Amino acid sequence: MGSASAMKVAVLGGGNMGVNVIEHLRDSPLVREITVFDPDSAKLAKLQHSHGVSTEHELERLLDDVTIPLVFITASNDAHKSLAVRALEAGKAVMCEKPMATNLADAEEMVAVAEKTNGFLQVGFELRYSHLYTRVKQWVDAGLVGRVRNTQCTYCTSAWGRHNVWRAAAGTSGGMFGEKLSHYVDLVRWWVQDEVEEVYAVAAPNVISYYEVHDNYHCTYRFKSGAVSQLTFMMAPAATFQGDPLQNAVSQQAGDGHALRYMLYGDRGAAETDVFLRTLKRWEFGEDAWGQTSKWVENHTWNPDEDFAWFHNTHDQALDIVRRVAMGEPPMTAPRDALETTRLCFAAELSSKEGRPVRLAELGAGVTP
Ligand SMILES: NC(=O)c1ccc[n+]([C@@H]2O[C@H](COP(=O)([O-])OP(=O)(O)OC[C@H]3O[C@@H](n4cnc5c(N)ncnc54)[C@H](O)[C@@H]3O)[C@@H](O)[C@H]2O)c1
Repeated sequence: MGSASAMKVAVLGGGNMGVNVIEHLRDSPLVREITVFDPDSAKLAKLQHSHGVSTEHELERLLDDVTIPLVFITASNDAHKSLAVRALEAGKAVMCEKPMATNLADAEEMVAVAEKTNGFLQVGFELRYSHLYTRVKQWVDAGLVGRVRNTQCTYCTSAWGRHNVWRAAAGTSGGMFGEKLSHYVDLVRWWVQDEVEEVYAVAAPNVISYYEVHDNYHCTYRFKSGAVSQLTFMMAPAATFQGDPLQNAVSQQAGDGHALRYMLYGDRGAAETDVFLRTLKRWEFGEDAWGQTSKWVENHTWNPDEDFAWFHNTHDQALDIVRRVAMGEPPMTAPRDALETTRLCFAAELSSKEGRPVRLAELGAGVTP
């Protein structure tokens, strides 16, 4: 850890995700104090009491505090851009939750400001820290599956449930693709290390009638290399879950209609991940006198108490970001890389809206879902 001294860290947004981050930051030896800003002062008072954090009611005062080098933005999506830009301009390192913003122009502005100020901006794609998905990345990087040709993701989950939730409102959410599915396309971009050229997404009329955003998609996207990825998403079939959506619920949700399975096929082998079955598998392809062969060569699982690390590993993400800022290292994922995932999400929204394939090159600034 070198000689970096412990820092004061700010959390902007004291909802579910803010609490998550506060709890993770407690495990970092590099954090000496956590301060929280949220326009909801009742929430601040509660957090002060329940989590022993300091609180700040004036954003400007927090941004002027030179003893705070790093802020985590865990506010609702419509606040991300303004908070990120102001924090970067105040010289803070910024971790911003996904989606970057509710429209592409805002996301582009965030990256431009990060580059202009030479600032630190990392977007919360924590699946890149997941032990499960990192293993697949290592297999791809080591050439064990060869050139990736095809990936498939099936994701079925329960509704967010509540009426009037900001996540399901078009203006404050920015669209289901960014709010929910950005993780699952970012992961594939990370595995494949190639740029997406074109996307085609279709959505059927909603099951959840009061959502302004789509609750379902079939989406296909094609990379420059020719590799093709497919994502099928459906919200609502899984048993209603009324708890904190961020808690580790793999055991509770297994078998109740939740599904999150990837298949990745290369020209030398394949990989499969299944969160709710807790499985990770690998195959090697070959050829013999009979023809094409496939050999199942690896089969892994993990314990329920490891679910967090193997799935949404926001814990290691938070600690890694603190460490990077303390050591003066760049973000794990460059802002332009996160922006490319964001562009894919908005292209998918545009495609489903216009009922046609969308080339990412045709996306100008200011596209809204
Ligand atoms: N990475 C993940 O897996 C994951 C999971 C859940 C949520 N998230 C993201 O985290 C963010 C927060 O989600 P949540 O579940 O905590 O929502 P939430 O509704 O529980 O909390 C949002 C909080 O933001 C506060 N807020 C609104 N405007 C603000 C502003 N200008 N400045 C500071 N705070 C402001 C609200 O008062 C509220 O307390 C969202 O961007 C969401 O997409 C990410």
